[in-house]
This record gives sequence, structure tokens and C-alpha cells, in this order.
Amino acid sequence: MTKTPWWASEGFWRKCAIWVTAVMAVALIFLTFDSIEAITAHEGGRVPAYSVINQRIYYRVDDVQGRQVPVIGDAAPLFGQRLTEEEAEALVTRGKLTVQSRNCMDCHTLLGNGAYYAPDLTKSWLDPAWAAESVREQLMVQFLMDPRSNARTFGTERRMPDLGITEDEARGVVAFLKWMSAIDTNGFPANFPTIRQEGDR
Ligand code: HEC
Repeated sequence: MTKTPWWASEGFWRKCAIWVTAVMAVALIFLTFDSIEAITAHEGGRVPAYSVINQRIYYRVDDVQGRQVPVIGDAAPLFGQRLTEEEAEALVTRGKLTVQSRNCMDCHTLLGNGAYYAPDLTKSWLDPAWAAESVREQLMVQFLMDPRSNARTFGTERRMPDLGITEDEARGVVAFLKWMSAIDTNGFPANFPTIRQEGDR
């Protein structure tokens, strides 16, 4: 009877299984902490600190990466009021809770998640449809509070329903959308045109 070669022995494969499981468990723990760091809002991160709503958000094409990347510009406080990191987080959180409570994802996508009935909201802060930088914040608040009278529809017959959003909630949503537009999403959505802003390059 021929001897089983070492690479076909049960003992060898048992050891392999134990080692692979152990190494992957360590890798999984490392990746979990790495992902938490990557998705937590903080200054200089891919997901910026909430106080980014105090700055102007630009986009430029990065030739090396071949995609648009967000650029955080000069001071441009939302609603003309400079907020601390805590105040900004509270406002953005109010917006996020409003978005969740009204299920905006039933019609819209946010960071690619949701439904395709209405425009993607990831970069809607930069939509040229807000006419001009000077009136954008006001128009967005008015639109959210009364989307029927302020409907644009973009050549479709689709309309956004009145979701009973209060002025405080609308301001929170605008802060949430401005903050979201500053997230580096690896170029999603691709090649969107942006509203003209002061100091555009
Ligand atoms: C029933 C579907 C529906 C729901 C739910 C809905 N929307 Fe809309 N929304 C639309 C449609 C359709 C449009 C495009 C028509 C328009 O702009 O008048 C739109 C447009 C918008 C725009 C303008 C987008 C741009 O790039 O200019 C914003 C901002 C917006 N919605 C935010 C929200 C928020 C925030 C919520 C949740 C609080 C929400 N929507 C819930 C249908 C919906």
C-alpha cells in the first residue's frame, strides 16, 4: 500500500483550515475598525466633519483618478451663521431624521440607495436648478416646505408631494444635503454639472 503524500493528508488540511480561519478572523477585526474610521465624519476624512457646512463645497476633476472630487473652499456659512462642530452636527442630524421620518428614499436615492422615481439627492446641493448661489438656501427651504407650488419637474410630469416639512426641519435637510455633497463618493454620481459659485475655478 502506498503512503498518502503529506499534501493529501487529513492532518495537513485540518491545520490549513484552522490557520486560514484564524488569519481571516484577525483581518475581519482589522477591516471593521478601518471601515468605522472611513465612514465616521471627521475633519480631513472622506466623510467630512459636520462643520463643513460652514464652507463652500466645490468639485474639480482629478485627472489622475479620472473622476470628480469634492474640494472644501472658503467660508460660506449656511444661512449666514457660522456653527460649531456640535451645533452643525445637531442641525445635520435633524435633517437626517427628517429624511428618515418622511422616507425620502421611497422616491429618491441618497448615496445611491433608494428609488429611481426622483433625482438622486447626493449632490442636489450643487444642482444648477437652484438658480444662483445667493438664493439657493432660501429656494431649497421653500421647495421642501411647499414642493407643489415650487415644482420644477425637469420636463417630466413627476411632482414631489407636500410632506408637511416645517421650516426647522427644512433647514436641517438643507444642512444634511450640503454636508452630504462634501462626501467623497469615489465619483458617484458621475459627471454631474454644478451650480455656479463665487470663486469658481
Ligand atoms: C413621492 C415621491 C417623493 C418623495 C417621497 C420625496 N420626493 Fe423629493 N422630489 C420628488 C420629485 C418627483 C422631484 C422632482 C420634481 C421637482 O423638483 O419639482 C423631487 C425633487 C426633490 C429635490 C430637488 C432635487 C434637485 O436636485 O434639484 C429635493 C432637494 C428633494 N426632492 C428632497 C426631498 C426630501 C428631503 C424628501 C423627504 C423629506 C423627498 N424629497 C421626498 C419626489 C419625491
